[in-house]
Amino acid sequence: MGWINARRGRRSAAAGYAALLLGLVVVATLYSALAGRSGTAQASAPSQSDITAGKYLFQENCSSCHGLEAQGTSQAPSLVGAGAAAVYFQMSTGRMPAKEAGAEVPRKPVTFTQQQIYQIADYISSLGGGPAIPDAQQVSIVGADAAVGEQLFSANCAQCHNSGMSGGALTYGKYAPALDVATPTQIYTAMLTGPEAMPVFSDGTLPPQAKRDIIAYIVRTRTEPNPGGFSLGRTGPVTEGLVAWLGGLGFLIIFAMWITAKRRDVRPAEPPGTEQHR
Ligand code: HEC
Ligand code: HEC
Repeated sequence: MGWINARRGRRSAAAGYAALLLGLVVVATLYSALAGRSGTAQASAPSQSDITAGKYLFQENCSSCHGLEAQGTSQAPSLVGAGAAAVYFQMSTGRMPAKEAGAEVPRKPVTFTQQQIYQIADYISSLGGGPAIPDAQQVSIVGADAAVGEQLFSANCAQCHNSGMSGGALTYGKYAPALDVATPTQIYTAMLTGPEAMPVFSDGTLPPQAKRDIIAYIVRTRTEPNPGGFSLGRTGPVTEGLVAWLGGLGFLIIFAMWITAKRRDVRPAEPPGTEQHR
């Protein structure tokens, strides 16, 4: 660490700017890596080989309940017309494949890769109809209005999920889960497909912009610090993008503090009048 202590005066300021720049580059790289990963999903039309791979995976893992051609059985509904978005929601939250055909299938750890989920989704959407999986831009909360989202949430979602988003019991032993872990794409596809007792919120009912506003409200409420007192059940994992963003921000703040500390070190040592920068 001797090289840091050796820096003085203008050199320390230059080093400070370099550090700041490095911080920005790190944040930008992290951000684009994260955004890019979700952004590439389904950018192009599904290939025949993905559909074939998806059909094979489906017959292995899903056909015992949904039927060999996804036509449905006495155990589970037909998935013809369910769409890629329904497969994405069900599989990315670990609900499907269900362990047993019960009333409500809970979230559980996901054992399929993102690619396998997309392949099964491609296969189901090749059977015709149903909503597609929204891309990163469609679920982006950049420019979304969380205040409008709050009103839309109270009007459309709070009666089941609770205004604190902690979830709640419904009739017949069903429940609406807490909304503390769902990703923006999962929230969007939940609205598009209406799993279980949840209604479908088509684009006619809630236009894409309204969906983004709701997502912005859910995500923001999750990360807002509590004003004090006991936890209101708002804490929980935040989205990866936010972690990267906050991490990057912390990095910058530490560097800013370091630069200021350096200046304070340096000033008294300089004879008055020789300072070249403010
Ligand atoms: C043990 C039986 C079982 C297995 C295995 C199973 N499912 Fe299901 N699935 C169900 C039942 C029951 C429902 C309806 C209840 C619900 O929606 O929670 C359902 C619902 C769904 C839905 C929602 C349909 C809609 O219209 O929104 C999708 C999509 C789905 N399953 C996909 C899959 C996929 C993909 C697999 C394989 C990876 C799979 N399931 C494996 C029993 C099963
Ligand atoms: C009538 C009650 C009801 C309403 C209204 C409702 N939901 Fe749901 N929601 C549910 C139920 C029940 C489930 C669980 C479905 C399952 O497990 O298959 C669910 C699941 C979800 C999930 C998945 C959570 C997770 O972590 O897996 C999200 C996200 C969600 N809802 C968002 C919304 C949003 C946003 C609205 C308003 C636009 C809304 N819901 C309105 C009942 C409701």
